[in-house]
Amino acid sequence: MSLPDAPDPWWRTAVIYEIYPRSFADHDGDGEGDIAGITARLPYLADLGVDAVWIAPWYPSPMADGGYDVSDYCDIDPRFGTLDDADAMFAEAHRLGLRVIVDLVANHTSSQHPWFLAARAAEPGSPERARYHFREGTGLDGGEPPNNWISAFGGPAWTRIDDGRTPAQWYLHLFAPEQPDLNWEDATNRDTFDDVLRFWLDRGVDGFRIDAAPGMSKHPDYPDFAYPDPQKFATATWTDNPHWDVDTVHDIFRRWRRVVDAHPGEQVLVAEAVVNGPERLARYLGPDEIQTAFNFDYVHAPWDPAALREVIDRTMTALAPIGAPATWAMSSHDEVRHATRFGRAGETTWGGPSQTSDLELGRSRARAAIMLTLALPGGAYLYQGEELGLEEVEDLPDAVLQDPVFTRTGGRIRGRDGCRVPLPWSGTEAPFGFSPTGASAPWLPQPAHWRDLTVEAEQGDPDSMLSLYRTALAVRKETADLLGPSFEWLPSAGDVLRFRRGTRFECVVNLGPDDVPTTGPVVLSSDSAPSGNVGPDTAVWIVHDVPPEIP
Ligand code: NOJ
Repeated sequence: MSLPDAPDPWWRTAVIYEIYPRSFADHDGDGEGDIAGITARLPYLADLGVDAVWIAPWYPSPMADGGYDVSDYCDIDPRFGTLDDADAMFAEAHRLGLRVIVDLVANHTSSQHPWFLAARAAEPGSPERARYHFREGTGLDGGEPPNNWISAFGGPAWTRIDDGRTPAQWYLHLFAPEQPDLNWEDATNRDTFDDVLRFWLDRGVDGFRIDAAPGMSKHPDYPDFAYPDPQKFATATWTDNPHWDVDTVHDIFRRWRRVVDAHPGEQVLVAEAVVNGPERLARYLGPDEIQTAFNFDYVHAPWDPAALREVIDRTMTALAPIGAPATWAMSSHDEVRHATRFGRAGETTWGGPSQTSDLELGRSRARAAIMLTLALPGGAYLYQGEELGLEEVEDLPDAVLQDPVFTRTGGRIRGRDGCRVPLPWSGTEAPFGFSPTGASAPWLPQPAHWRDLTVEAEQGDPDSMLSLYRTALAVRKETADLLGPSFEWLPSAGDVLRFRRGTRFECVVNLGPDDVPTTGPVVLSSDSAPSGNVGPDTAVWIVHDVPPEIP
């Protein structure tokens, strides 16, 4: 199977490294990461071999949802720095050959955004209220929510305001109550966000990651939805939902694409869209809409040959007709780190309860998995710290947890803080170089054993996860076949994934319990002590001297 030939803008094959700014590197010593910290560490990322960074939100925010509650779209939160710091970061990134993608959170604002404060203060039916979804309640005195919609973080998606009016209205928030949803039917919102895009384009960004893209349009009649499970905001299983993946949402992105295309350069839009399968995802992509999307079906695939093969096939089959490149990722600031997931069976999302994980197994699978990921056609996303083999920190004390999921579910779900623990850079004690000496403690505590997983500890070790990532990224960059569109499965046993890219490059991933024979000269193995065979939970890259005959 091949993706169609297409002109080659950078984003078609880019490896993009996600930075969660609060946890990446702290320059000013307040225990939280900042932009100056990012800038100082950009040479590390250039050396790692990624093509771009995606910065999770750094805008002014009350931090009710880790920055995904924005109170000003055209500024920087003082905890992270200033616009001048951002400009300096863009300049340094570009000097090093790295592109920069920023996060655009336009499904909702913060409840502290001046637009929402004005809407609360205004009359029902006013233009200020029209920027959000304010509705009358149902039941006696309008005391029940307008409909049965649920929030991603637990509980109803509606909160009643207390403004002294009778009856008081309710507002919609698909996420936390501190994140009121914007009404995208409102012309002022549409015009304003065109300007927000231009503001960042003019400052030199190379793209936008569109947060919660499928949520942005709602059914105009706000009908109830028959949730398969009203405890779960399980968008990947919903069809015909009135507040997720509604057809009118595509008008917004076609409009944004026109804004981006009118700007000189090759900026990219990336959809964050958890929808019901690659076929629905493909509807967001194309020459007049979004260029690429984060591939959640792959993120959520278990370490299982049939599941992986299926998601790879479905992704490429769905994207081929529109000529959009696939992307592949295993972790993010929202997911249980994959070194942990791959070391356990069963439920693998952050919604699941804490379970034990065989981290040694998880890490060897993670080594094989990054070689699979980087050998697939299209682009890839890495999440900060996966290159060090960091695991999910699942024993954070309740008192430090900040994810609204924890409180909104009454502690039933611990949430996503465990993948957001500050990175270990150097040294043998916390904060492991995350902050300068004498700084405040990191905003989430780091496990003591991360002393063995610092950048400093791993960079001199040829067998470390970091060395594997560096080598794999370097080989990928030098191997034209890996950056081209061709992809073909090769015959293999059921628990082995074997495919060829171009005529000479071959990737073999053994997910079974037995060794399988090597089929040619190995240029890279995920096993730091490779034998002549490909062992269990191991991947190899093979480059044949001459194109082999395939039986
Ligand atoms: C997706 C973001 O990645 C996540 O962190 C956030 O909580 C929700 N969207 C709401 O903005």
